[in-house]
Amino acid sequence: MSTQVAIIGAGPAGLLLSHLLHLQGIESVVLETRSRVEIEATIRAGVLEQGTMDILNQSGIGARMQREGVVHHGFELAFGGQRHRIDLTELTGRAITVYAQHEVIKDLVAARLAADGQIMFEVSDVALHQIDTDTPSVTYRHAGEARRLEADFVIGCDGFHGVSRPAMPTSQRQDFQRIYPFGWFGILVDAPPSSDELIYARHERGFALVSTRSPQVQRLYFQCDPNDDVNQWSDDRIWSELNMRLANHDGWQLKEGKIFQKNIIGMRSFVSTPMQHGRLFLAGDAAHIVPPTGAKGLNLAVSDVRLLARALDRFYATGKQDALNDYTETALKRIWRAEHFSWWMTSLLHTFKEASPFEQQLQRAELDYVVSSRAAATALAENYVGLAFA
Ligand code: FAD
Ligand code: DHB
Repeated sequence: MSTQVAIIGAGPAGLLLSHLLHLQGIESVVLETRSRVEIEATIRAGVLEQGTMDILNQSGIGARMQREGVVHHGFELAFGGQRHRIDLTELTGRAITVYAQHEVIKDLVAARLAADGQIMFEVSDVALHQIDTDTPSVTYRHAGEARRLEADFVIGCDGFHGVSRPAMPTSQRQDFQRIYPFGWFGILVDAPPSSDELIYARHERGFALVSTRSPQVQRLYFQCDPNDDVNQWSDDRIWSELNMRLANHDGWQLKEGKIFQKNIIGMRSFVSTPMQHGRLFLAGDAAHIVPPTGAKGLNLAVSDVRLLARALDRFYATGKQDALNDYTETALKRIWRAEHFSWWMTSLLHTFKEASPFEQQLQRAELDYVVSSRAAATALAENYVGLAFA
């Protein structure tokens, strides 16, 4: 089998790229190890930047997001028993939308299949070949059969644990990494929203985040040991911990309900460069990871594929490779900005066991500054809603 662009991974990066290429008349095949049911049920991110919403709308797949997603014009920072509002729209003129990543995935899969797009689910043994040449290929197994997909380009959108990044020569790659000494415990709850806006809370016992999914389902997170076991956390223990971390002096109360999903995610910052080698290009988590505090992971995956779609369009329309050649350099500018912001917001809001009393005072001073200086709040807001696309 052959195609123009072979895409490895049906996450937000791979599916959106396939959709954007289709709109430009470029053919692609997506190879995915998991089933459609699994990718459509995996609970991950929830915050879409304005630029992400814009691209979903402009490419014709934003209808359900517009109906079911909720636009948020601000969020709250809670610390020292008080809540402080960051007014995103007043400070930046922009907003974010809360709409779950797996809903974006459902919309993208539906759009690709409706356009006869090819997504091969439940493939295995994916391997990349000849990426140094103009005729790269990918071998894999599907329904027990060994297959080969020949393409002009291979795009690795297969996440942090995929096979694409390791297919690049290690001698030419540089990885930058920080692993944090904590994780996030995430829960989904049957309950009405506790707050109209997200609450990011800093407490001596650790960070907590109140987010939402719908009028009936809420998403909450709290800082935990990355090696903790969800089975050690009864519902009572979870609510008790969240209530302690979110306690405040203004009478605000967390609304509890039945917890129907629990998971723990590790936290790391990671960038692998270059993001390309020969005819192989990486996008999204395959090339970089941010800790989730700034809600940037999904949005960065979208901005990478936006660049790639544009560069591939230029190549097929004119034969010019300049935009493809510049991909790593262009993408990394936005990626490193998001890496810094995500690290900064993580450092601002989490408790670090090893922090000295001096460092703890610095953290509190930074929080006080962000909620009392318009300039500092604007810098936070501008990064949170996402910088304009180049
Ligand atoms: P992914 O979504 O990881 O998609 C990669 C796809 O490739 C997957 O479907 C995978 O099955 C497939 N794949 C892997 N290996 C192969 C292979 N060899 N062959 C074929 N296919 C393969 N961000 C936030 O902002 N907030 C959050 O709360 C948040 N929570 C997260 C929780 C978890 C458990 C994880 C892993 C990430 C979370 N993120 C969060 C980050 C955000 O979800 C990611 O940045 C986003 O999913 C990146 O999209 P992607 O398409 O690059 O990669
Ligand atoms: C959600 C995830 C985040 O990482 C974040 O910063 C805000 C909200 C969420 O899943 O709702």
